[in-house]
Amino acid sequence: MVSLSSRLGPTLCALGAAAVLMAPGEARAADDMHWFSPGLMLSLSFGDKINFGLGLDARYSLLFVGDTTCFSSPRGAVGAFAQASWLNFSAAGRFAAGIHGGVDLRRLPFGANAEVGWTYRTALSDQHPGGHGVHVGLGGIGAQIVDLAFRGTIPWAGDDRKPEFTIAMGAHFPPMYGNPGRCIMGRPLRVNGRYVLPGVTGKPRRGSGRRARIDETTRAALARSFQDDARAECASIPAFLALARDLAAVGAPRELVDRALVAAADEVRHTELCSSIAGDLASMTLAPELLPAPRRSGLDRRRELSRLCVESWEDGCLGEGAAAERARRQARGAKEAGIGAALGVIAEDEARHAELGWRVVEWCLSEGGKPVREALGEAVAASPEGPAREDVPEAEPAAWRAHGRIGQHEIEASWEKTVGLARKTAEGLLWARP
Ligand SMILES: [Fe+2]
Ligand SMILES: [Fe+2]
Repeated sequence: MVSLSSRLGPTLCALGAAAVLMAPGEARAADDMHWFSPGLMLSLSFGDKINFGLGLDARYSLLFVGDTTCFSSPRGAVGAFAQASWLNFSAAGRFAAGIHGGVDLRRLPFGANAEVGWTYRTALSDQHPGGHGVHVGLGGIGAQIVDLAFRGTIPWAGDDRKPEFTIAMGAHFPPMYGNPGRCIMGRPLRVNGRYVLPGVTGKPRRGSGRRARIDETTRAALARSFQDDARAECASIPAFLALARDLAAVGAPRELVDRALVAAADEVRHTELCSSIAGDLASMTLAPELLPAPRRSGLDRRRELSRLCVESWEDGCLGEGAAAERARRQARGAKEAGIGAALGVIAEDEARHAELGWRVVEWCLSEGGKPVREALGEAVAASPEGPAREDVPEAEPAAWRAHGRIGQHEIEASWEKTVGLARKTAEGLLWARP
């Protein structure tokens, strides 16, 4: 057990960093507002003639509402589409292009999308000439991938063709409004509802601290995964500084503010540990870029308490809790010199950060009453059962494990165990008498 006083040094370091980080400025948002989503569709249209269509549907969507965290809220998007259908397995085709927009509810697997634009159909036969028209459509998005659309073609003025009505079933990948949210283990940095990760600068260096006999593919995969960890750890530094600032602003006990600052200093150490392991593997000197803290929310105190409570549940109780469990499992299998010890330190610190998350949740509940309780209840009910799938790279399994990495199965198990236990604790808090 490490006493708070022995952590004064790191706390002062974090305070020094805070002075720089609190300077006006916005962290860079990850470029996950723009989505390109190709898809396939089957259609049946009714007008002069019944036509069966087999087609391609490509969409660009710009997300203007919502987030891409793993606790995704509804998303709103506008964009452009282009379609081409092959009709009746003949030489005929239909083309359309225009703009589209709508919402995707995320937590309920349903959304709606409208579209309007231009369309052109080639002649089907001498009796059924082609022509231009106005394209309108309304569709439902199911499970974020499948869409069922009802479309109409209104022929250009002066064209004798009947209007055409089309039912189309399609599938898009990635989903029309982007992939399901990513879960970051550890406290993520959120900027405008999106997770932000820093870039890394690297300089080649001679020699390596880790010349274990592993193939180059495995070495590169290991270096990349520790570098990704270093970026996530580095993102947690401004996230904790922002937490300390926001707790102080709503009058939280000094102990909570201090513990958030200590956590920021812990994340500095985690960043160093992961950068050093990644650098040794890649024969590079690596340094993730320290990002500024996000701006204050601007909410009034009552709503800020709800926000802090829900964020501490998601990022602290779940995110940090899962990070602790994951690091524990990684440390258990690590055989390479220094890696097991580093992961052991990270596991211990992350468990303490998760504990801080619980203390913030409890304080916000006691301070904010019913609205905070309701907000937390909704967040607990909507917590994702599992983390988004991670790409576990092609690597030699024994070396992967010996270097403190785990597979998808164990990553999921860390999350599931954490969510299961955390839900029980949260329900206890929600049911407790105020
Ligand atoms: Fe960490
Ligand atoms: Fe942490």
